[in-house]
Amino acid sequence: MKSALVLVVLIFPVIWAQVPHWGPCPEPEVQSAFVLKQFMGRWFEIAKLPAQFEKGRCIETNFTLTTDSSIRVVSSEILKGELRKIVGTGVIEDQKNPAKLGISYSYVLPYSPYWILSTDYVSFALVYSCTDILRLFHVDFAWILGRTRSLPDSTIQKAMGVFAYNNIDMTRMIPSRQQGCDKTL
Ligand SMILES: *[C@@H]1O[C@H](CO)[C@@H](O)[C@H](O)[C@H]1NC(C)=O
Repeated sequence: MKSALVLVVLIFPVIWAQVPHWGPCPEPEVQSAFVLKQFMGRWFEIAKLPAQFEKGRCIETNFTLTTDSSIRVVSSEILKGELRKIVGTGVIEDQKNPAKLGISYSYVLPYSPYWILSTDYVSFALVYSCTDILRLFHVDFAWILGRTRSLPDSTIQKAMGVFAYNNIDMTRMIPSRQQGCDKTL
C-alpha cells in the first residue's frame, strides 16, 4: 500500500514534530475571486506556524504560471551559509474555489493544501495548510508572506486577526529571519 507508506513516512514525522490539534481541520474562508496570475512572482516568508523541516533563513518562493491553473514553485532558503532550492508544482484543485491550491515538492507526494486566505497581491498574503488525520486530529501550517522582506506591524496584527477569526491557533507563530539575505549571495 503506497498511500499507507506515504502516511507513515511523511505524515508521522510531521505529527511528532508538530503539536497536533484535536478534531478536524477548521474551514477557513479563502480569498474570494482569487486571480492566480496576480499571485505569481516572488514572495518572502515573514512569519510562520513552526514548520520543523524549514530551519533556514531568507526563505522565499517564486511562483510562475505554467498553464491557466497550474504553477511552478521554486522555494529557496539559506541554510548553513548555502543557498538551497526546491522545485515543486502547484494546481488549482477546484475551479470553483481557485484560492484553494495544492502544492507538491515531489512527484511521489500527493498535493498538500495551500489555501490563500487573504491577499492584496501586491504586499501581503496569508496562506494556510491543514491535513486531517482520520478526522480525529489535524496538523496545520500557516504563513504570512510579503512582497518585501518585512511588513509593517499593523499588517501582521491584521493577519493575526484573520487567522483568529478562522479559528486557526497562531500562538506558536514565529517570525522568519530575513536579515542579511542579500550579502550572503
Ligand atoms: C522567478 O521565476 C521566473 C521564471 O522561471 C524567472 O524569470 C524569474 O527571474 C524568477 N524570479 C526570481 C526572483 O527568482
